Amino acid sequence: RTVYVNGEYLPEDQASVSIFDRGFLMADGVYEVVSVLNGKLLDFDGHMARLQRSLAALEIANPLAENEYLDAHRALVDRNAISDGLVYLQVTRGNPGDRDFAYPSEDTPPTVVMFTQAKPGLADAPAATTGWKIVSVEDLRWGRRDIKTVQLLYPSMAKMEAKSRGADDAWLTEDGFVTEGTSNNAYIVKDGVIVTRELSHDILHGITRAAVLRFAAEAQMKVEERSFTIAEAQEADEAFVTSASAFVMPVVEIDGKPVGTGKVGAIATRLREIYLEESR
Ligand code: PDD
Repeated sequence: RTVYVNGEYLPEDQASVSIFDRGFLMADGVYEVVSVLNGKLLDFDGHMARLQRSLAALEIANPLAENEYLDAHRALVDRNAISDGLVYLQVTRGNPGDRDFAYPSEDTPPTVVMFTQAKPGLADAPAATTGWKIVSVEDLRWGRRDIKTVQLLYPSMAKMEAKSRGADDAWLTEDGFVTEGTSNNAYIVKDGVIVTRELSHDILHGITRAAVLRFAAEAQMKVEERSFTIAEAQEADEAFVTSASAFVMPVVEIDGKPVGTGKVGAIATRLREIYLEESR
C-alpha cells in the first residue's frame, strides 16, 4: 500500500511518525473516515467540514486546504486501486520533541496521515440482510463526543464486550438513554416515526446521519430527534445504525430481545437503498 505522511506518498513500510507525536503520547488528534464506492468518495465535503470543526475545537491549525485533502484522497484511491473501501485521515498536534501536558508552540506543524483500506463488496455486506445484534453498555467516554478524536479506547472496550457476549456492536447508554453506537449513530422506528438522539456534545454529529435524515425527509418519512431508552428500543418496530463504513445497518436484537419481528426492517432497508443509490 502507498500511504500519505506530511505531504509525502510512501510505501507503508517506509512511513513513520515520531514517538514524541502528541497523537501517540496524548491521543491529541482527530480523524475522519470517508467511504469509497466504485472509486467515488462519499460525502467528502461533509467530512471535511467536520474535520475543520474538530480541529477548531482543539485549537489545532488546519494544515491543509480542502482541495489538498481531496487531491490526496484521490491520489491514494488511485495508487492503491481502491474500488470499494475507505480512506482514513488523521491530523494530530504534531511532534514537540518531548512529552509535556501543555500544548507545544504554534509553530509546531501538525502531523497529517492518510491511508486506504480496501473493502471489496462493501455495499453488499451480508449483515445488511441479517441485521446486527446489539448489547447495551454504560457510556464512559468523555464529555466532548462531538469532536472526532482518536481516543477510541473505550469504544474498543465496548466493542470487545459486545463480541464476548455474541453481539455485533454495543449501544452506549448514559442516564438511562442511548447516546450512540461504538462507531455509529443509533435509531429506532416506531409506528413509522424514525427516532434518533438530538445533536449535542454527547454524540458525534454523523455525516451519514445528516444525509439519511435528509433522504428520510425527502421521502416524506417522519423524524423525531430526541433521546430514547433501551427499553423503548426493545419495544420498537425497527432499529438501525448509520456510519460512513456501515452506511445504514439494520439492528434486529437488543440485549437478547428481538426488535419488532426480529428481522431487518422495511424502513432501514429502504433508507440503505436510498443512501447507496444517492451515492452512486
Ligand atoms: N465512526 N458515532 C461515532 C462514535 C463514530 O465513531 C462514528 C463514525 C459515527 C458515524 O459518523 P459518520 O456517519 O460521519 O461516519 C457516529 C467511523 C466510521 C470510525 O470510527 O471508523
